[in-house]
Amino acid sequence: MTSEALIEVRSLDIEFTTPDGLVRAGTGLDLDIHAGEFVGIVGESGSGKSQLLLALLGLNAKNGRLRGSIRYRGTELVGAGKNELGRIRGDRISMIFQDPMTALNPHLRIGRQLTEGLQRHRKTTAAAARARAVEMLRAVHLTEPERRLDQYPHELSGGMRQRVMIAMALICEPELILADEPTTALDVTVQAQILELLQELRQRFGTAVVMVTHDLGVVAQIADRVAVMYGGRIVERGDVDDIFYRSRHPYTEGLRRAIPRLGEDRAARLATIPGNPPNLAQLPRGCPFAPRCAYHMPRCDAEMPTLETVAGTHRKACFYDGPLADAPEVLA
Ligand SMILES: Nc1ncnc2c1ncn2[C@@H]1O[C@H](COP(=O)(O)OP(=O)(O)O)[C@@H](O)[C@H]1O
Ligand SMILES: [Mg+2]
Repeated sequence: MTSEALIEVRSLDIEFTTPDGLVRAGTGLDLDIHAGEFVGIVGESGSGKSQLLLALLGLNAKNGRLRGSIRYRGTELVGAGKNELGRIRGDRISMIFQDPMTALNPHLRIGRQLTEGLQRHRKTTAAAARARAVEMLRAVHLTEPERRLDQYPHELSGGMRQRVMIAMALICEPELILADEPTTALDVTVQAQILELLQELRQRFGTAVVMVTHDLGVVAQIADRVAVMYGGRIVERGDVDDIFYRSRHPYTEGLRRAIPRLGEDRAARLATIPGNPPNLAQLPRGCPFAPRCAYHMPRCDAEMPTLETVAGTHRKACFYDGPLADAPEVLA
């Protein structure tokens, strides 16, 4: 891994104007993504993870607004024009979604969809593009790649479709792949295979990956660094071991407790932290996690804690400084 920053996010706010008021999907986000590294972004549903990924692609809903800065290799993406974003999107940075069916066109053969990006961003002949598509389908370990090119998405299984989407994301050799819950819709065995594939491709092509998931257990296996989001903020970040074995934020502790242990029923995962995530249209003045926090102090309602150094690159946004009651035995 090099220390070269591909992406530098600084003081990023992501806001939506709605009839119910301003929805703050992201507040004061700071994050670096370095070449070749695997960054996991973890948090419950509604914490702003997907909106952060979309912001990195410059994809913003009509009622949305970005403030702050996102630099890609020094180029500012916040406020950048369509042409500039279009050059980067799909070519230097590409995205994988949770449900491949939303990204794949059901009416187009796999081959056509795979080669489209290549022909848009590179001047490639149809034959060369087809050869490259076959090569990418091989790279994602799809059997009979030539035959797949002539198939439609519905002829493939969910896991195979996800492999096609990964091939699509890789075909222009991007520097960064953004993956939004790429394994959530898949069953456990296929989930593990897709994670393994992402890891293998990252090593082979040197592509950086930012993966969003609600499941801390998933990123613990694969990420170099992890950022934990709650209520549109990054509340803790650090190396995967900092977050997994030395987490200092009560919310991260709660996420870790929600990881099912080996042999446990998958439904046990639903027994997560009591209470509900905050309404992003009515965020409290203080810490958004305070109402659910076992370490809650009066100060937490009055002030929002900022990200402070724990040690090295480990940061947490929490006033509580004592020990957390959990034991890091989960993965052991
Ligand atoms: N176009 C939009 N208008 C208003 N609110 C939106 C819009 N898009 C997303 N949101 C809100 O942003 C918040 C964060 O959503 P999201 O990033 O999808 O969360 P996550 O991926 O962590 O589940 C949610 O409360 C969602 O309702
Ligand atoms: Mg999401």
